[in-house]
Amino acid sequence: MSGPRWLHGPKPARALITGATRGLGASIAGVLCSEGVEVWLAGRGEERLQNVAAELRECGGRCHVIAIDLEDVDTCHRRFATLQQESGGMDLVLANAAVTGRRAGMGPLECPWPIARQIMTVNVAGVAATLWPFIEPMVARGHGRLAAMSSIAGGYPNPRTPAYGASKAAVGYLLRSMDIALRPRGVLATAIYPGFVATPGTAEIDDAMPIVVGQEVAARRLVAALRRGRRVVRFPRRLFWLSRLIGLLPLPIYDIATRSLTG
Ligand SMILES: NC(=O)c1ccc[n+]([C@@H]2O[C@H](COP(=O)([O-])OP(=O)(O)OC[C@H]3O[C@@H](n4cnc5c(N)ncnc54)[C@H](OP(=O)(O)O)[C@@H]3O)[C@@H](O)[C@H]2O)c1
Repeated sequence: MSGPRWLHGPKPARALITGATRGLGASIAGVLCSEGVEVWLAGRGEERLQNVAAELRECGGRCHVIAIDLEDVDTCHRRFATLQQESGGMDLVLANAAVTGRRAGMGPLECPWPIARQIMTVNVAGVAATLWPFIEPMVARGHGRLAAMSSIAGGYPNPRTPAYGASKAAVGYLLRSMDIALRPRGVLATAIYPGFVATPGTAEIDDAMPIVVGQEVAARRLVAALRRGRRVVRFPRRLFWLSRLIGLLPLPIYDIATRSLTG
């Protein structure tokens, strides 16, 4: 149960993962549990969290559930501050929850304000509310790992995902800034930029998705990157380099290419 070695600090004993009802959050929780990490699964819908927890416990995992809605950011911040004290200190916090799927894929004319606000609140303020309560205690202990899900999409403006893409760009900035500030004090912050992963979130998307990675494969890859204490994680590499090349195009050509690619 002890699992592979963690670099740049001790192996986490306790981890918090948001958005653990399904998708990448649930799979990453499974990988961490299988390595003997005690995991707190946070998300909406206690019953769905309990189902995930029951499966993990069947395989010998130690886990707990926390029902929270990240739209209520202040309540979540308070709940996580309490968790930090009650749990004995979190070693790894992964802000994974986000508004995804159909709601994330609406252009500026189709996306009603309540959904744009929900995306910005959950995907940006929700990530900050998840990470903030743990910063000072981790710095005080001299070690800890913070991580959050950005997206390759966050670097490339797309007419179909203005709110989602902007939220993911903000998360990347947040984590990179945190890492520059905190790494010298022993606290690592990892910005994760996935391409397309086959999850319940992407199952809602009708558009073509190039180079899709399986959920379990992606979860193992992400945990391996966290173990190595990486600053940024971008995968799959081919999609990352393809996006980079598209990003180098002059803006008028980028706009025409993006419009034609997104239909
Ligand atoms: N899959 C991909 O291709 C891909 C690519 C790039 C980045 N990402 C990022 O990776 C992360 C996981 O993606 P995924 O595909 O696994 O997503 P997913 O299947 O849609 O799961 C998202 C999770 O976030 C939770 N969530 C949504 N709104 C919430 C709220 N208000 N409060 C608490 N939890 C909430 C969902 O809970 P409910 O079930 O209650 O809605 C669910 O557990 C996301 O941040 C996503 O943006 C994914």
